Amino acid sequence: MAVERTLSILKPDATRRNLTGKINAKFEEAGLRIVAQKRLHLSEAQAGAFYAVHKERPFYKDLVAFMTSGPVVAQVLEGENAVAKNREIMGATNPANAAPGTIRKEFAESIEANSVHGSDSAENAATEVAFFFSGIEIVG
Ligand code: CMP
Repeated sequence: MAVERTLSILKPDATRRNLTGKINAKFEEAGLRIVAQKRLHLSEAQAGAFYAVHKERPFYKDLVAFMTSGPVVAQVLEGENAVAKNREIMGATNPANAAPGTIRKEFAESIEANSVHGSDSAENAATEVAFFFSGIEIVG
């Protein structure tokens, strides 16, 4: 298996409840390394651009409103099979379907306020990492 990098976002519901440390512990306990991290308050244009792939979905407007409702923490996670591993650690998008022990099962409030975002493929990970970070900000 190859060492990969994936983009993670701790969402406004997680920063609001001061859960960033507890969530980061889940990544680190599972063997992922946080090789870049920054706290941001996204503008509507930034959140809209990040989620442009969902533009036609009925939840897009609410998603952008939620993602701009408070600070987020954008991160690059690195490790063996990091894209798939992070998705396992996060659990299903809808916390009602998330497995026990996953971040979304333990912390998510709803399908929208689901605490974390993680890239869904290696290709999207590269695009999403580049959206938030320049090469010099990622320290492996
Ligand atoms: P995320 O992995 O950040 O990608 C898109 C987000 O849209 C998703 O997590 C959810 O938080 C949010 N969302 C809101 N409603 C839905 C829905 N019905 N189906 C999928 N994603 C949704």
